Amino acid sequence: MTQMTLRQHLRAGSTDTDLMILFEDIAEACRMIADEVRHGAFAGNLGAAGTQNVQGEAQKALDVISDEIFQAQVGRNTRVAALVSEEVDAVNWRKDTPQAGDFIVYYDPLDGSSNLDVNLSVGTIFSIVRLDASIETTDSAVQIKGTAQIAAGYAIYGPSTGLVITTGQGVDGFTHHPGSGSFLLTQPDMTIPPETQEFAINASRYDLWEAPVRQYIDGCLRGVDGPRGKTFNMRWCASMVADVHRILTRGGVFLYPKDSGNAAQGGKLRLMYEANPMGMLVEAAGGASSTGTGRILEVVPTGHHQRVPVILGSKHEVAVIEDYHTK
Ligand code: AHG
Ligand code: MN
Ligand code: MN
Repeated sequence: MTQMTLRQHLRAGSTDTDLMILFEDIAEACRMIADEVRHGAFAGNLGAAGTQNVQGEAQKALDVISDEIFQAQVGRNTRVAALVSEEVDAVNWRKDTPQAGDFIVYYDPLDGSSNLDVNLSVGTIFSIVRLDASIETTDSAVQIKGTAQIAAGYAIYGPSTGLVITTGQGVDGFTHHPGSGSFLLTQPDMTIPPETQEFAINASRYDLWEAPVRQYIDGCLRGVDGPRGKTFNMRWCASMVADVHRILTRGGVFLYPKDSGNAAQGGKLRLMYEANPMGMLVEAAGGASSTGTGRILEVVPTGHHQRVPVILGSKHEVAVIEDYHTK
């Protein structure tokens, strides 16, 4: 066991002490969520909670449990002004008068939870914004563009528990070491190659797609004789954390576009809990993230549960897909 711990890595990078403590609180929450996920079958927690979240989606018992753990662990941090969760309608204000230097933490407590029953990878996604002035405790105060994020990351609950973080420069991957309880730096400086021959999309929605997405995927499927002149491989985990983790590991492109089935909501994935943090990570690893017509991090939020089209991954491939959208 010679790898750096999460704290040693953050210290080596001269991370601000408040941010370092926040990362450690988030890491603690993720370790506890990992434990609940691992024991879900024994506790009878893999199934539905019998409730719906604000977006009308059926909640799993573990969605609710994970949210409670995150609230308890991260919400006790004295620099956290607000928690904004995919699973909770209202902004959870922790301070009456948020000041400059306080944090807002946006999170998806359990991403890919439809995979729980089939024992596939799920995760927790988070995004951190630091206030540069005091704010009112209103909904609009947390509607901040992705470019303002100072840090983002996710935990992945797979064959091992991983934690992947960025503070803007570079992306680093840690693995939970069960013996010591530490997250150890196992994938320093994760980078996404600019070119790829692998795409990820839920192709069962083909009939619903807009023309640019169909054109792009049709071109990939035609292989060496098609417009792309190369063969493509396909993956779809139905868990954004797992799909993005693969892209940070070996490249690729991920699409959850706006289509006729989700257009009324603006797309499927959530801007503040999924698209912004993953967009920041992918860009920090040398990739690109787009709605098809512009950078995800530049989207001006109009609501904290807002949804957006998401296209992210290898830079040149994202540019090709943007081209199909603009032509
Ligand atoms: P969540 O479990 O937090 O609601 O998110 C699920 C998301 C994302 O993880 C995944 O990429 C996508 O929904 C899967 O969608 P399909 O069911 O259309 O495959
Ligand atoms: Mn999710
Ligand atoms: Mn979720």
